[in-house]
Amino acid sequence: MKILVTGGAGFIGSHLVEELLSNENEILIFDNCLTGKKENLEMTGNFKFIIDDFGSENSLEEIEKFDPDVCFHLAAQSSVVVSVENPALDFEHNILQPIKLIQVLLKSNCKKLVFTSSGGTIFGEPSVIPTAEEDYADEPESPYGVAKKRLNELIKIMTNNSNLKYSILNLSNVYGPRQDPHGEAGVVSIFANKYLNNEEPIIYGDGEQSRDYVYVKDVVSALIKASTIDKNHFLNIGTGVETSVNNLANSMKRQFNSEINPIYKPAREGELNRSVLNNTKAKKELDWKPEYNLDEGMKQVFNWLKA
Ligand SMILES: NC(=O)c1ccc[n+]([C@@H]2O[C@H](COP(=O)([O-])OP(=O)(O)OC[C@H]3O[C@@H](n4cnc5c(N)ncnc54)[C@H](O)[C@@H]3O)[C@@H](O)[C@H]2O)c1
Repeated sequence: MKILVTGGAGFIGSHLVEELLSNENEILIFDNCLTGKKENLEMTGNFKFIIDDFGSENSLEEIEKFDPDVCFHLAAQSSVVVSVENPALDFEHNILQPIKLIQVLLKSNCKKLVFTSSGGTIFGEPSVIPTAEEDYADEPESPYGVAKKRLNELIKIMTNNSNLKYSILNLSNVYGPRQDPHGEAGVVSIFANKYLNNEEPIIYGDGEQSRDYVYVKDVVSALIKASTIDKNHFLNIGTGVETSVNNLANSMKRQFNSEINPIYKPAREGELNRSVLNNTKAKKELDWKPEYNLDEGMKQVFNWLKA
């Protein structure tokens, strides 16, 4: 199968490529290395990696020539903080270029577009926990969330009455090896890195804010399953398990046999108090379920950081 992956040198994208390479696939990857790394794709197999915006004129021509069967669209300006500081940059990568990509896909023989949307940012503070697809309320609180939400809508409208089906997957907080432990997101990697170096992790606010941490390999299996189903999807991909930041820090402390306690700093603006996704619909429609619990996933992150 011919598969296009945008954002393939990123955290989730590189795990996806690794998995896709284990089957007989021909893969074309675009990544401009805004946050992705060439080293993430140090693997062998039938793939071509182009370092460029997927929405540049040259890239769109390449995509047209490649004529993919499936497109996994993961490329994004992926930082909420950057989107607040530079909404125009966010709009360029997360709305404008994706529109051009969809236009090319609509002219091709591509049958499926799988898009990684964001369960934690496309809507505001949820009133129902765990939040199902139909429970989402309020408007996004960041330009990143606005772009993800609007692109969801554009995908639905633009693919209407076409042969291109979509799977929009609203991911919860994804964690795993290769997630940047020095960034401002990816609290599992950040905390694990701190404990490994005997430094105090920082908790913003009282630490009672909760998240739904889903392991990257579980996300990859959902993406791949979705790509094989000839149906439109709008699904949450998370564990449905609520974990507070305090609990996360405590279980890491136990796991690493550490005596170190977190430092508390004032809460950051725009962060949700609670965010946990109901995954019932994905379990049914994709015949999928998360296989990793947080302890197992944390061990993988820890081993990766040590290596
Ligand atoms: N990590 C999470 O918890 C999470 C949660 C919800 C949604 N998502 C979404 O999943 C996708 C992957 O996220 P990630 O965590 O791997 O982040 P990431 O930053 O590691 O991956 C995004 C990749 O896209 C690349 N990129 C950005 N703009 C591009 C462009 N115009 N052309 C080509 N490449 C471009 C970046 O260099 C990077 O490699 C993103 O769409 C993100 O918004 C992630």
